[in-house]
Amino acid sequence: MKNLGAIIMAAGLGKRMRSKLGKVLHPVAGRPMVLYAVELAERLTDEGVAVVVGHQADQVKAVLDSYRGGKPGSVGSRPVIGREKGMTAHVKNPASKSSSILIAEQTQQLGTGHAVVQARHAILRARGRAAGTYLILNGDTPLLTEATVQQLLTIHADEKAAVTILTAMLDDPAGYGRVIRAHTLEGPRHVLKIVEDRDATVSESAVKEINVGTYVIDGAFLFEALDHLQPKNAQQEYYLTDVVKLAVDRGLGVSAMVVAEADEGLGVNSRRQLAIAERVVRERIRVHWMQEGVTLHDPTTTWIDADVRIEQDTVLYPHVTLEGRTSLGQDCVIRSHTRLTNTTVGDRVVIQDSCVITDAKLEDSASVGPFAHLRPGSIVRRKAKVGNFVEMKKAELGEGAKANHLSYLGDARIGKDVNIGAGTITCNYDGYHKFETVIEDEVFIGSDTQLVAPVKVGRGSVIAAGTTITQDVPPNSLAISRTVQVNRVGWASKRRAWLAGGEPGDRQAASGKGLEIKHVRGSRSEVELRTTNGERRTSDSRPSKISPRPLAPRLLPLASKTKRRKKTGGK
Ligand code: UD1
Ligand code: CA
Repeated sequence: MKNLGAIIMAAGLGKRMRSKLGKVLHPVAGRPMVLYAVELAERLTDEGVAVVVGHQADQVKAVLDSYRGGKPGSVGSRPVIGREKGMTAHVKNPASKSSSILIAEQTQQLGTGHAVVQARHAILRARGRAAGTYLILNGDTPLLTEATVQQLLTIHADEKAAVTILTAMLDDPAGYGRVIRAHTLEGPRHVLKIVEDRDATVSESAVKEINVGTYVIDGAFLFEALDHLQPKNAQQEYYLTDVVKLAVDRGLGVSAMVVAEADEGLGVNSRRQLAIAERVVRERIRVHWMQEGVTLHDPTTTWIDADVRIEQDTVLYPHVTLEGRTSLGQDCVIRSHTRLTNTTVGDRVVIQDSCVITDAKLEDSASVGPFAHLRPGSIVRRKAKVGNFVEMKKAELGEGAKANHLSYLGDARIGKDVNIGAGTITCNYDGYHKFETVIEDEVFIGSDTQLVAPVKVGRGSVIAAGTTITQDVPPNSLAISRTVQVNRVGWASKRRAWLAGGEPGDRQAASGKGLEIKHVRGSRSEVELRTTNGERRTSDSRPSKISPRPLAPRLLPLASKTKRRKKTGGK
């Protein structure tokens, strides 16, 4: 329809949600509820969309801003959400649309009619005139589809109506406004008015046809009629729904269309209704992606948010969760219990079971997991591998590089074909500040290495296992930092013999050297070696002839020792 504007009412608190968060901000399939209406309206109108905000206006505005401009800080550009028949939303063609949303403030929530009055102010200020027709949507009807609204617009035009409303037949109409029609003997019964649940008489309450909260109204009539709304009702609010009766009273045409699937008319006022909306939207999303060529091995356990995008022949195993603005390329395999949030994934990427990946980027043919944690700012380049129990944060793993086991890589830039040995840790935090580790191409990091940042390892270098790197390593060098190894030949067999029965020779040898062997709590394995004056000997200072270092050495409590010495007048 040409010359069509839209108004979305999103200023209410939503008392029945019993929430600190404004109702229209509650997410449905990961997207704030209000955006379902905004995005639908944007696709149908040529005269712009006005959104009435009030309760938590700043947060609602922030949501609208991020919808318009792309979310700052996320990897990859913000996709624009598309909509098809039977599908509430999916992602299409990123960044191809620049929308202009007019914000109208409703500081006091005096009803839906009052909300539209605020929109009128904003529209007149911005454009100086009314559009030919307005589509008006409640901000809490996320299941409404574009196809239905298109039909409503067609009926409105065909029947040359001043007001056209969308209705639904519900077994349980409680809470909704009822559509009251004239009783005539022949022909369709035309709409007389909408009566709110709280204002309805007993017989009106029994009516099962409800007002969905989706209206198409002639612009000139709407802007004028708003001045005639009166808050004469149970809630003492200005009801938008009263424009129906105003039109009827003036002999203007009022049309109504009953929505084919009553589900679509769901207004989310409570957490229960929120859960219903969530279930329906998620099912639509799953059906959509299966139609697009994505395999879902167990659809009901697969959670895909509304703004996720997935390409052909990608396979999702049971219990996969794809959140926010995640996008997956072709031929990826995502195994069970993995959660991806705002993550961009290339083609042929394999993510094993139980990974948590947030605000990250995985390039083509990368492989991750099982049990990997990729925190914001992680980049896994082409063909790179992140194995089990690896955590990354603000870290880039270069093309073909591997970090296969048990590592923490934070604030790190790691080049091509680098091998990160098991147990490698970037020590990026000194308790106050974060520092960067740079590892250039083709470096080999031996297992159990700590890299104390800021530090840089030059191209082609080798770090010996167990090294603590505290200084930059020049290219093509070996860096090693360990204590020199000592081998005591025969030590182990001596210890075994001693533990098996004690070696009198050992005891004698010990006392000869001013040492004694103590058994603690009578246990053979709980023994220690002390000098006779109480000083504990370490294995390194112990003469090798003396009994070897016992297992699990335990110090006698120092206090009791001191006491004993005092008693015996020792020093
Ligand atoms: C409204 C309709 C009701 C319909 C139902 C469908 C009115 C008077 N009633 O009732 O006939 O069956 O929707 O779901 O319109 N809002 C504002 N400012 C306000 C009050 C509300 O912006 O001052 C917004 C809300 O944020 C919400 C929408 O308008 O998005 C509807 O308000 P809500 O309070 O949910 O109306 P219902 O009681 O559900
Ligand atoms: Ca409602």
